[in-house]
Order: sequence, then structure tokens, then C-alpha cells
Amino acid sequence: MDRLRVGVLGPTGMMGQRFVQMLCGHPCFELAGLYVSRSSIGKRYSEAVSWKLGPSVPEQVSGIRIAEPKAKAMRKEKVDLVFSALPSESAATIEKPLSVAGIHVVTNSSYHRMDPDVPLMIPEVNGDHLRILQGRKRKGILVTNPNCSTTGLVMGLDPIRKLIGSEVFVSTYQALSGAGYPGVASLDIMGNVVPFIRDEEDKLIHEPAKILGELEGEKYVPADIRVVANCVRVPVRDGHTISVAFKVKKGATRERIISHLTAKKGIRDLPSSPVRPISVRDEEDRPRPDLDAFAGDPPGMVVTAGRIRVDDGIARMFFLVNNTIRGGAGNSILIAEQCLKEGYI
Ligand SMILES: NC(=O)c1ccc[n+]([C@@H]2O[C@H](COP(=O)([O-])OP(=O)(O)OC[C@H]3O[C@@H](n4cnc5c(N)ncnc54)[C@H](OP(=O)(O)O)[C@@H]3O)[C@@H](O)[C@H]2O)c1
Repeated sequence: MDRLRVGVLGPTGMMGQRFVQMLCGHPCFELAGLYVSRSSIGKRYSEAVSWKLGPSVPEQVSGIRIAEPKAKAMRKEKVDLVFSALPSESAATIEKPLSVAGIHVVTNSSYHRMDPDVPLMIPEVNGDHLRILQGRKRKGILVTNPNCSTTGLVMGLDPIRKLIGSEVFVSTYQALSGAGYPGVASLDIMGNVVPFIRDEEDKLIHEPAKILGELEGEKYVPADIRVVANCVRVPVRDGHTISVAFKVKKGATRERIISHLTAKKGIRDLPSSPVRPISVRDEEDRPRPDLDAFAGDPPGMVVTAGRIRVDDGIARMFFLVNNTIRGGAGNSILIAEQCLKEGYI
């Protein structure tokens, strides 16, 4: 089967580099175009990027010149779909016009996440939300990824929704790669924790209700879930750790929670979906970013749960999500695989 020719918007940043790495050699997609950065239009990728994901830029993309994000030029190069790793401000003016012009866009940026006609997707959780695209007015699709911590939280809560109350108390310990590159200044983060990440708590509070909600006709009915969130930046390279506490319903034991989490299945036939998207660790000191951030197959696509305890009707646990893979590029690529399989692309 011919692979679909795709591009990346913002390929020089942390998330853009992860897209480039994951798309090289992908069975359904061929990386053929790199578009837009503040300073590098016209440069070869290897000259423009400060590559952070291994010894050198993958050979197959090192010579691609970074171009302006124009639909006409993309069509000429037969690029049908772009993955966006742009900051919200530039996504605001670039993504929708591309999809109106017929280029499909799957984005990590937060700008369109809460739009009523745009799915906010984790395929194993709310794959049915793609239905909203059936009535779309734009020629190209526009689909969004949740915030990276939201993805870890929602993937962990989804299999146990029926066992828990509607209030969830969350604290996150978020990795430096989540702040992009160059990200947080070293003097602010070395040996330190920073109890503020701009706009992060709002995303964790609002996005879960849309993802876990129902699509009735063309309208989202938000789920009955209230998240209370505190977000902290910590000196870890990859992997957001999420501390979670909530009331449980009668009969919800530790064992039942574990059996629901481990029973959750991936999506067959999608190359980026793990067989089991949640891994539960029994050790008293897991999950940990150094050991679990790249768990699963493909690496980094599994959310790891651990320290699951239920006492006096209250459950406490930790989830760990790889922020640039399952919390970012990997989830976007999985969304695009589902769109391709179901004929939306
Ligand atoms: N990092 C994560 O873990 C994570 C997780 C989920 C979602 N996200 C989202 O993914 C997006 C990218 O995040 P990131 O961490 O990769 O950020 P980043 O490292 O700062 O990269 C941003 C990219 O966008 C380009 N860019 C910046 N300003 C631009 C402008 N005004 N016009 C055109 N291009 C511009 C940059 O080009 P230059 O290299 O020329 O500056 C770079 O390629 C953000 O929307 C973020 O919220 C990130």
C-alpha cells in the first residue's frame, strides 16, 4: 500500500522533533514536508534544528528544506495531512485555514481543543467522537490532541469511571521536555520544583469532561467529572507523574480497580496502539520517570499506574505518561491512523 505523504508544522521544537522521529519509517505515513518555524524557513532541517533525540538527525529528513505553511505548496508536493507542533498563538492563524483549504490537520496545540466542532481525542477512550467530522464544513479534517497531563489522567480514569465519584484531586510533577526547547532556564529548575505552569491547570480542569463526555448528534454532552488540579514543574527530562485521589463507590476495592485498568484493550489494526494501553506496577516505588517513561510497545505509548490504594472509601494512585509520545506526537499519530482506517482521510 502507498504511504500517505504527510508534513510537520513546527518541526524544530521538542514536539516537532518527536513527530519527525516517530514518522520516520512509519508504515502508513511518509514524512515529506517540514513547515514553519520562527527563524528557519528555507534552511535544511539539519541546519535548522538543535536535535535532542539521539546522536543525529534522521538521514531521510536532514535535507528537507523548511517551507512556509501554504496549502498550495503542500498540494503540489502531494502532502495531504500535517501534524502540528506549533505554539497556540501561531496555531490560531495557521491550522484552520489549512483545513479549510483541504489539508488535514491533527494538532497538539491547545487553540482549537474546546471548539464544538473539533474532536479532542484519545482513540482508545473516545474514538467514537470522530463522528462529529461527518457533518464537517471544512474540506480537510481538524482534530486535536489533549494536553499531555490530561491524556495521562483520562487514560487512567476511563477504565474505572463506573467505580469512582465525580470529584478527582490531582497534582502533577511535570517533566522539562513538556516546556519545549530551550524551555525553563536552568537556574530556575536545577535542584528545584516550580509550582506554576502557565494555563496548565485550566486545561486539566476542562478537557477531561469533553473527552469523557458523550456525543449526541452534533453536540457534546460533557461528562460529570470535576477535576481539582495543581501542576508543578520538576527537574525530570521525560514523563509527567500524576498523583490522583478520589472517592470510590461501594464495593470498589484495590483489586477491582487493578483488574479494570489491566483489562483495558488497545485498538487492533492501528500500528501505534499498544495491546494494553495501561500497565499496572506492583512495586512500592513505581511508576518512576527513569524506569517507566518509555514503557510499552511502541515505547512511550503506555500509561503506567502504580501505588494503588483504597482506604476508607478513598482511592489514591499515581499515573505516569510520556508527555511527548502518548501525551503528544504518538497520540496524534494514532488519531491519524484511526482517521485513515475509518475513511476520514
Ligand atoms: N512538549 C510537550 O510535552 C507537549 C505536550 C503536549 C502538547 N504540546 C504542545 O505542542 C506545541 C509545541 O510544543 P513544544 O514543546 O514542541 O514547543 P517548542 O519546543 O517551543 O517548539 C515550538 C515550535 O514552533 C515554532 N514556532 C515558535 N513560534 C513560532 C511562530 N511565531 N511562528 C511559527 N513557528 C513558531 C518553533 O520554531 P523555532 O525553532 O524557529 O523557534 C518550533 O518549531 C505547543 O502547542 C505545546 O503546547 C507540547
